[in-house]
Amino acid sequence: MSPKILGVGYSVPDHRVTNQDLAQVIDTNDAWITERTGIKTRYLSNHENTSDLAVMAAQRAIKDAQIDPQMIDCILVATLTPDAMMPCTAALVQAKLNLNSQRMMVFDLNGACSGFILALQTIDALIQSGQVTMALVIGAETLSKILDYSDRSTAVLFGDGAGAFVVGQDQICKPWVHFVNTQGDTEQTLTTDGVELNGSLRNIQGQTPYLRMKGQAVFRFAVKAVEDAIRQILLKSNLSIEEIDLIIPHQANARILSHVAEKMKFPMDKFVMNMDEFGNTSSASIPIAYAQAKSKGLIHQDMNIILVGFGAGLIWAGTLIEL
Ligand code: UT7
Repeated sequence: MSPKILGVGYSVPDHRVTNQDLAQVIDTNDAWITERTGIKTRYLSNHENTSDLAVMAAQRAIKDAQIDPQMIDCILVATLTPDAMMPCTAALVQAKLNLNSQRMMVFDLNGACSGFILALQTIDALIQSGQVTMALVIGAETLSKILDYSDRSTAVLFGDGAGAFVVGQDQICKPWVHFVNTQGDTEQTLTTDGVELNGSLRNIQGQTPYLRMKGQAVFRFAVKAVEDAIRQILLKSNLSIEEIDLIIPHQANARILSHVAEKMKFPMDKFVMNMDEFGNTSSASIPIAYAQAKSKGLIHQDMNIILVGFGAGLIWAGTLIEL
């Protein structure tokens, strides 16, 4: 049995924030953000939490797949900004969608900006083992709740949103080809604190754990990581770069992708990019980009598509989907 994408969907909060809006409250400007990143707008949540965005994306994916939602027996949410430390966001999604199948596996996975690729790789294994037959695989984030609006080097980059795939099983679909690697990060290159260890009987009422990033170090890592993930997938699948129709990467920075395209002599227009509209939505960026590309008619039968994630960990990962 191979996995098959049956439907896709995405959602973002109502509130759209332009670079000019940010420049009203942060020492920044539209020219800097646009030139350095390619980002023009992002959506930031006023009232939607991660599970709310995940549910909206999931409902659209279920509609796109035209399936009975009660057939879903697994919900996997990739997120680094869950609603709560427990229960997992996937359990909240199950409750909000009112899914009560005879058996249901739900869990969250935190692989930061590579999270959605790790989720696809996990679901593939669960489908192949027969443990899961129909899954909702979601990448969802409300990164706005961990942004430090006094740090202009990170606050302008990120946005909120969710993307979802309904993944079923198929006997004739080509198997997905995966790659993943991690370079255990001890340098706090890209990090958000967790609950502090204060010593027993000394816990303090929580403070917001902010996202921190050494931008240039991540940039250098990202350029190498995207190229490596693509090359490893080509090697494993015996395909040439010319046989790849689309690459859907994590949407961090347009300059990262233009460096990779130049190095690999790959036309830029094969990269699906939408960071201009959504900013960097971490684990949600790849499924949002996929779902939006599909709604624009850019994805067709018989295409070879590589999805590539990279980010905190430092993790980088890719999956080839031959439609
Ligand atoms: O999703 C996880 C993966 N994340 C990434 O892939 C992000 C990778 N990194 C990047 O995309 C880039 O490193 C950034 C976009 C984060 C930063 O771009 P940069 O070209 O590396 O800029 P920089 O950090 O070297 O800063 C250059 C200048 C500095 O000023 P001085 O010291 O040269 O006077 C910064 O203070 O730009 C300044 N700066 C800003 N200016 C206006 C930093 N942020 C801003 C800002 N607006 N928002």
